[in-house]
Amino acid sequence: MPRPESKQLLVVYHSATGGTEQMAQALLFGASAAETENGTVHVALKSATNTRPQDVLLADAYVFATPENLGAIAGLMKDFFDRCYYPALGKIAARPYASMICAGSDGQNAARQIERIATGWRLRAIAEPLIIHTHAQTPEAIAQQKVIGEADLMQCKKLGQLMVSGLDLGIF
Ligand SMILES: Cc1cc2nc3c(=O)[nH]c(=O)nc-3n(C[C@H](O)[C@H](O)[C@H](O)COP(=O)(O)O)c2cc1C
Repeated sequence: MPRPESKQLLVVYHSATGGTEQMAQALLFGASAAETENGTVHVALKSATNTRPQDVLLADAYVFATPENLGAIAGLMKDFFDRCYYPALGKIAARPYASMICAGSDGQNAARQIERIATGWRLRAIAEPLIIHTHAQTPEAIAQQKVIGEADLMQCKKLGQLMVSGLDLGIF
């Protein structure tokens, strides 16, 4: 029997103090550990600055992971969307996506921003935005490297598993 075509999950992230990066790595870990029937899903983890429109066009599904900065997605994540939005518009409709936000105490607006962009692209959300709080409030705490706790990382792993299993089974 011919193998079904392989699918690619593209994880685009930006991280300044490591929190979002740990979340993205955990998602990747969960995605790699997912028990897939067909074994057809490949996961690519790319920094926002290294992601080109071609990468977006070639992928079948997306996870967007960003810190919330000043009530918005991080500037370099915005730069990724700014560079890729129009080249991909009308060409990636109906593909599934999820988002992860690393925030001090909020994260809602960054999540909303990604939702709006994804709506423009006509992507389909497969889960609610996953928002993880680092509780950093002071300038010192904000500047420190972040350590995301196991329970939070587990949520990221589960999202990775869900994404890959759903893609593998053709549910998404
Ligand atoms: C300039 C700046 C602005 C920030 N603004 C917000 C904010 O609006 N809401 C919030 O919840 N956290 C805010 N934070 C906290 C970051 O979201 C938090 O430190 C997060 O862990 C950063 O992710 P990273 O470790 O992947 O860089 C801000 C941090 C910086 C540096």
